[in-house]
Amino acid sequence: MSDRVLILGGTQEATELARALAGKPGVETISSLAGRTRRPAEIPGTLRRGGFGGAGGLEAYLRREGIRVVVDATHPYAEAISAHAAAACEGAAVPRIALHRAPWTQATGERWIVAADADAAARALPGLGRRVLLTIGSRGLEPFLRVPELRYVVRSIEAPEPAPEADRVTLLLARGPFDIEGERRLLESHAIDVLVSKNAGGRAAYPKIAAARTLGIPVVMIARPPPPPGERVDSVAAALSWVEERLASD
Ligand SMILES: NC(=O)c1ccc[n+]([C@@H]2O[C@H](COP(=O)([O-])OP(=O)(O)OC[C@H]3O[C@@H](n4cnc5c(N)ncnc54)[C@H](OP(=O)(O)O)[C@@H]3O)[C@@H](O)[C@H]2O)c1
Repeated sequence: MSDRVLILGGTQEATELARALAGKPGVETISSLAGRTRRPAEIPGTLRRGGFGGAGGLEAYLRREGIRVVVDATHPYAEAISAHAAAACEGAAVPRIALHRAPWTQATGERWIVAADADAAARALPGLGRRVLLTIGSRGLEPFLRVPELRYVVRSIEAPEPAPEADRVTLLLARGPFDIEGERRLLESHAIDVLVSKNAGGRAAYPKIAAARTLGIPVVMIARPPPPPGERVDSVAAALSWVEERLASD
């Protein structure tokens, strides 16, 4: 029987890891998605979608499916699934590693206002601008919409549900990678004076930060939540080596 590797996904790194493991003899990858994105990227190997039913449900799944190792390659802001993975893997004695890409660091000339969470980010906005580009995904917009008098351009892959008030929010559905010229045009054409972002890391989403710098626009950067306990790597290559070593070790 093949060694089963569970990749908790929803990120580019998770897809790249599944691609890197595809075709390795004796290895079966199971990529797990929360199931929120309607048209996810093509992922080789077995694909499953939807929650496990908390840490207990995930632990039962690991045992039932005979999972050998788990790579938590979820987004660094997906706190619940990472905590569940940590608890479930400990319970089922399955080795686990977290693969989270390195965060961006503030470059010279960038003006960052680091906020502890979305509430703090929303509270910081009135002192910074009135027309906000919000690039935090389609969920968690409530703290921002509660701040009166601000106008938002919300860019996300999926449409927010419920749809926000049309008079204050312009919705742009788009999926990266983006480029700096396009991002600059976006900021200028909507007369954006402040940008809100998560610290996603990686190249695909960074051009908005660089474009904001060229226009002197401040960036409210929502800090990452604490990472899950245990081993962590920030590259697909390192996660791949870890998986291979673990599978070879017994
Ligand atoms: N948060 C972000 O900014 C962000 C950005 C880009 C992509 N994503 C991706 O979108 C997905 C959901 O993110 P989130 O922030 O809503 O997560 P979350 O708050 O940590 O998770 C909420 C619940 O969704 C289910 N879930 C999440 N990720 C899953 C996965 N990979 N496979 C199976 N079930 C999963 C779990 O349900 P049960 O408790 O029932 O198991 C989990 O308790 C994740 O896969 C993440 O990698 C998130």
